[in-house]
Amino acid sequence: MRSCEDKAVKVFDAKLNSNDELYSQEKLLDLSVGCDGILSSLTDKLDEDTINKLPGSVKILSNFAVGFGNINIVAAKKKNILVTNTPEVLTDATAEIGILLILGACRRASEGIEAARESSWKWSADYLIGKQLTGTRLGILGMGRIGRKIAKIAMSLGMVIHYHNRSKLNADKENGATYHKELKSLLSVSDVLSVCCPASKETVNLINKDTLEYLPKGAVVTNVARGDIVDDEALIDALNRRKVYAVGLDVYKGEPNLNPGYLKHKSAFILPHLGSATKETRTAMANLAINNLEEFFKTGNCKNKVN
Ligand code: GLV
Repeated sequence: MRSCEDKAVKVFDAKLNSNDELYSQEKLLDLSVGCDGILSSLTDKLDEDTINKLPGSVKILSNFAVGFGNINIVAAKKKNILVTNTPEVLTDATAEIGILLILGACRRASEGIEAARESSWKWSADYLIGKQLTGTRLGILGMGRIGRKIAKIAMSLGMVIHYHNRSKLNADKENGATYHKELKSLLSVSDVLSVCCPASKETVNLINKDTLEYLPKGAVVTNVARGDIVDDEALIDALNRRKVYAVGLDVYKGEPNLNPGYLKHKSAFILPHLGSATKETRTAMANLAINNLEEFFKTGNCKNKVN
């Protein structure tokens, strides 16, 4: 990302976090003195208290992510601070990881990798039998850009697509998928669930003890969006009871830590938040986050504002 840092330094009088240090609130506030804007990453917690303590000179938070659950956008709005994100540029990369989670969980990749590394396996007709995707129903929770791209790839793998969204999409965007107005209705047909919706007050712990019960027995749950949407204890309990056959997770509550309950399960295919982690995508995100700042300082507004 050197070229992006160079660009930021060229365009702005920028203070860089070149070592990717995780700043404490105190350090973040210290460093923001004299700044007109902050280019934040999803590990920077800009909660209400932090935002209220920011110097008055800060007018924009340009988040280096499509998600902005790390920022209290209401508190920012109250303080007249614009918040922007980086949509679109990470759709393809994140959808690829979404598909990897589905494949990894359904085809028992964690167990397979471990056995291959340890040479502790022997081919046999019933060794590491997983779930085939062809003909399997995929429930997509949140049919935004990433959900739709996952749907498109999954369809090419022969999966049958169902989705739940705040509203039904037009036929073009739906692309043959079946809409479920109610989450419970979607869950009841989801042999595999892909969580793709943003984290918000409405979606926190949407996948919980009660809603998990609507899944068919032996369903697979994957999450490429945000850990906050899933109640971990409930999902781990569902794995323990074999209500859920396997999980594929890229995101967690309290990252970089994850609930140790997942580690006990060989059927948990887990990745360290790699959704957008390709060179092309991270470069495009950084450029967009810088462009968002430039647009705001030039025009007082930004097309990627979220508050
Ligand atoms: C990554 O998780 C993002 O929200 O950009």
